Amino acid sequence: MGIHYQEENKVFHIKAQDTSYVMQIVRDGYLLHLYWGKKVNEYRHSNHIQQVDRGFSGNPYEQRHDRTFSLDTLPQEYPQYGNTDFRKPAYQVQLENGSTVTDLRYDSHTIYKGKRALEGLPSTYVENDQEAETLEITMKDSLTGLSVVLSYTAYENFNVITRSARLINQGSESLKVLTAHSLSVDFRDADFDFLHLHGAHVKERFIEKQPLRHGIQSIESTRGASSHQHNPFIALLRKGTTEDTGEVYAFNFVYSGNFLAQAEVDQFKTTRVTMGINPFDFSWKLEQGEEFQTPEAVMVYSSSGLGEMSRTYHELYRTRLVRGTYRDKERPILVNNWEATYFDFNAEKIKDIARAGKEVGIELFVLDDGWFGKRNDDTTSLGDWFVDKEKLPEGLDQLAKQINEIDMQFGLWFEPEMISVESDLYREHPDWCLHVPGRDRSESRRQLVLDYSREDVCKEMTKRVCDILSSVPISYVKWDMNRHMTEIGSAILPADRQRETAHRYMLGLYKVMEDITSSFPDILFESCSGGGGRFDPGMLYYMPQTWTSDNTDAISRLKIQYGTSLVYPIISMGSHVSAVPNHQVNRITSMEMRGDVAMSGNLGYELDLTKLEDEEKEAVKTQVEKYKEIRKLIQFGDFYRLQSPFEGNETSWLFANKDKTEAYVFYFSVLAEPAAPLKYLKVTGIDPDKTYQVAGTDQVYGGDELSYVGLSIPAEIRGDFQSYVWHLKEV
Ligand code: DGJ
Repeated sequence: MGIHYQEENKVFHIKAQDTSYVMQIVRDGYLLHLYWGKKVNEYRHSNHIQQVDRGFSGNPYEQRHDRTFSLDTLPQEYPQYGNTDFRKPAYQVQLENGSTVTDLRYDSHTIYKGKRALEGLPSTYVENDQEAETLEITMKDSLTGLSVVLSYTAYENFNVITRSARLINQGSESLKVLTAHSLSVDFRDADFDFLHLHGAHVKERFIEKQPLRHGIQSIESTRGASSHQHNPFIALLRKGTTEDTGEVYAFNFVYSGNFLAQAEVDQFKTTRVTMGINPFDFSWKLEQGEEFQTPEAVMVYSSSGLGEMSRTYHELYRTRLVRGTYRDKERPILVNNWEATYFDFNAEKIKDIARAGKEVGIELFVLDDGWFGKRNDDTTSLGDWFVDKEKLPEGLDQLAKQINEIDMQFGLWFEPEMISVESDLYREHPDWCLHVPGRDRSESRRQLVLDYSREDVCKEMTKRVCDILSSVPISYVKWDMNRHMTEIGSAILPADRQRETAHRYMLGLYKVMEDITSSFPDILFESCSGGGGRFDPGMLYYMPQTWTSDNTDAISRLKIQYGTSLVYPIISMGSHVSAVPNHQVNRITSMEMRGDVAMSGNLGYELDLTKLEDEEKEAVKTQVEKYKEIRKLIQFGDFYRLQSPFEGNETSWLFANKDKTEAYVFYFSVLAEPAAPLKYLKVTGIDPDKTYQVAGTDQVYGGDELSYVGLSIPAEIRGDFQSYVWHLKEV
């Protein structure tokens, strides 16, 4: 590990666990990208750049007479537009004279042990400085005084390099940042598939993969949230990459708002990847002496397929992104009343559900939407975070205490970023929402978005949430966000800063979440945005788990959880058993199937337990008991995907403990097949040198046999929507 600089040829060699990343300063200070991939001990330019005269690729400034030197043809680290590179730049700033050409050249660099936090932004961290090393390269534009600090951190125990950029105005005029990506990587070829996670509400993080083609392919959000529609993650895969083989270059953005991630294949079949805050509808004014810090992007390199990429993200995020008391703690099994009652509940109903939960061994009761203001449906009261005494006459405090008395923890739902037009808060402060002057305000779910770019709004909402959290014995908070932003403008920003609103909103939100979560370190926070609309590493930094989707149907969840697992740790995925017919898709599946899917994440229940037949109650009790036995392994073990729901009728995955002495294999089959072939499942993720017993049977096999020969899938698994679990134990 380590970051080395060779003064003689001005080469930076960053080494993470088994990854090398190499750059070089050439000519008059241009910073070129030379290599990223499997670790090489010493880089000696075997892939040296062969400079050729390319037509229509001009030659910048001092190089004007060298037709072989063009920024248009060179792989760069933080490229600019306007001086011979015609591809998309990593950044762009506008000067007071209206021009947008800048010319960054190497100025200096520092290398230090450890990793600095990004002020006001979420980021991965180290617990001691030996875990990582950081390189900061300062680039300068002599005409404007713009200076850009590029940060690279390499982790000793992960194939991870994190990147961000800080733009500083050291000149005498103000600058306007139009684009400021967190990273740009120029690959020498385009022989890749482009993989990303698209979706919709109740259909989040579906995997899509297509070969790179000439031109730009991109995913983005302009919705003010990272979104259900596109997760801030892309990966370039070498052709033929599988779960276990092939090279993967992955990029994930530690941010919860508008983003852009793109790959541009140019005329010479090279590929430029950029990732950062979406430049669309964005700008940021930098007065003299001011700085703009981009969010962090986490780059993972895997030489052994997508599985290794995912396990790298899982482990890094579980241990060095997520913080607080719950980082290393098993998560409680909860029951949430949303799908049980929606808005139609009273204290007795709530206590009945909690009691029924206790009877089956559930540990936490969560009171969802509808407990405050006059919220009997979704048209009113957001912002009025005061208990509704008509529904809960004895107050929240009493209710929580009574639930605690039956030995259940109490959790509560909030949606603190929103305001209903029909609310006291809106009547008092109609200018506290995002809006633009003179124009009507579009509603979505009959609500508007509070203007978190304003400090006064953030302070008041922090206070309202904290008042409840400090007066009621609360162990868990579900932090929801149920609409996207429109008419994005702030009443207090000047005209030339209006396009800063969406990012200022994120900074405000991050500050509010930091203040609240650090004031209540023992509360477990779960983020949510109409299910999984903000399932991103930015949120995970403050809240260690996320409600994966509003879709609780077990069959839909196979794809949703499989897709989510590409990047996000299993422990961060809320997954609940709900009633049938399912409320989102009307499908009927067995309690066993629902339980097995939900147990493949952070288990909970989302139904009226008081309405279950005795037999169903027994089944739930058994599931809860089983999950308590296995949750440590599920939540803290390693995850292997075996069969993809995107590729066929069957899905399977495996959880193994760290020393691979124990594993659980979950198998799911969606539709019954006539004349079905007999099937065998190759069980990867266990140790080929160990011997395992299939628990509950006398079958004993070598790990090699299970992996290479496969395990017979019982022919008795027949019918639609089936699941089966094997427990393997080393003997
Ligand atoms: C959307 C969430 O995803 C649901 O679980 C529920 O909390 C509702 N909001 C409540 O309005």
